[in-house]
Amino acid sequence: MSSAEMPVPDLTTNLAGLSLRNPIIAAAGTCGYVDELPGQVDVREIGALVTKSITREPREGNAPWRIIDLPRSAGMLNAIGLANVGVDEFLRVKLNGINRVESVVIGSIAGHSVDDYVAVAAAMEQDGRLPAAELNVSCPNTSDGLQFGEHPGKLVELLHEVRPVLARTKLIVKLSPNVGDIVSMARAAIESGADALTLINTVSAMAIDVHTRQTRLSRGSGGLSGPAIHPIAVRMVHEVYQKVAKQASVPLIGLGGVMNWEDAAELILAGATAVGVGTAIFVDPSQPGRIARGLQEWVRQQGCSSILELVGQVKSV
Ligand SMILES: Cc1cc2nc3c(=O)[nH]c(=O)nc-3n(C[C@H](O)[C@H](O)[C@H](O)COP(=O)(O)O)c2cc1C
Repeated sequence: MSSAEMPVPDLTTNLAGLSLRNPIIAAAGTCGYVDELPGQVDVREIGALVTKSITREPREGNAPWRIIDLPRSAGMLNAIGLANVGVDEFLRVKLNGINRVESVVIGSIAGHSVDDYVAVAAAMEQDGRLPAAELNVSCPNTSDGLQFGEHPGKLVELLHEVRPVLARTKLIVKLSPNVGDIVSMARAAIESGADALTLINTVSAMAIDVHTRQTRLSRGSGGLSGPAIHPIAVRMVHEVYQKVAKQASVPLIGLGGVMNWEDAAELILAGATAVGVGTAIFVDPSQPGRIARGLQEWVRQQGCSSILELVGQVKSV
């Protein structure tokens, strides 16, 4: 049978028991809460979306400029500072439209102490409307200034408290790329009970205006996203899949600079079961749907009946 005659390939994927219609996930912080979505991303075309990160108390975030575009199509630099309405208003107001969202909605939790994370996790668990919560661990702990996602010991300490709180809510841990050894961080998360991992959050970076000599972001440094970080994401997904996630059967959400279906396909071959799209949504909100359609054609061309047959199937030269 030629590839054109093959039946429509199956794009459904399974994330630790959560069934998604396709592997494409709108990334945390790039599609608002839940109520801003209509007219933006068509959620019927994607597998899931992650809300922006929610903290215990409302936060204004950093002063402008907190997002800048970078030259040479590298991507964006942001230092939003976790601006959000806080968990009470999020659950009471922002999540009200959740039943009208025709996709899986995943929460995102951030904090500046273990207690902060536990409080938000407990509120989401009790509310019960979010089937999974992603832990954004790229936040410094105010008590010692160290980021939870940059020290395996701190991550273990955090998950030790958060894991038991999320009894029915799946726990996804979103890893920071700003570490020397990503496998140690992934192993720490898996051994602490993570149901899935997301790789990667933004890469720590900085830009300077040479005329004013000032940093372009008000906070100085920020997080780099978009095309420049894509090869870093591919390498980290590959390493974590090969060295720890495959054996442990813990699914990976590959994320970082996915601008088209080829980028998404690369992450799947590296070992991702699902693929996040962030910066590309700012460029064109219809891109996630286009990426999902491109993947379907790719699976067909590869002679496979399901996209899952291609997970981790990179060949070494
Ligand atoms: C403007 C902006 C806001 C973001 N906000 C969050 C957030 O609230 N929580 C989080 O975990 N990641 C946040 N991220 C990181 C993205 O979810 C993603 O990990 C990162 O941008 C890399 O993917 P990309 O290159 O496809 O954008 C944000 C990224 C951007 C550009």
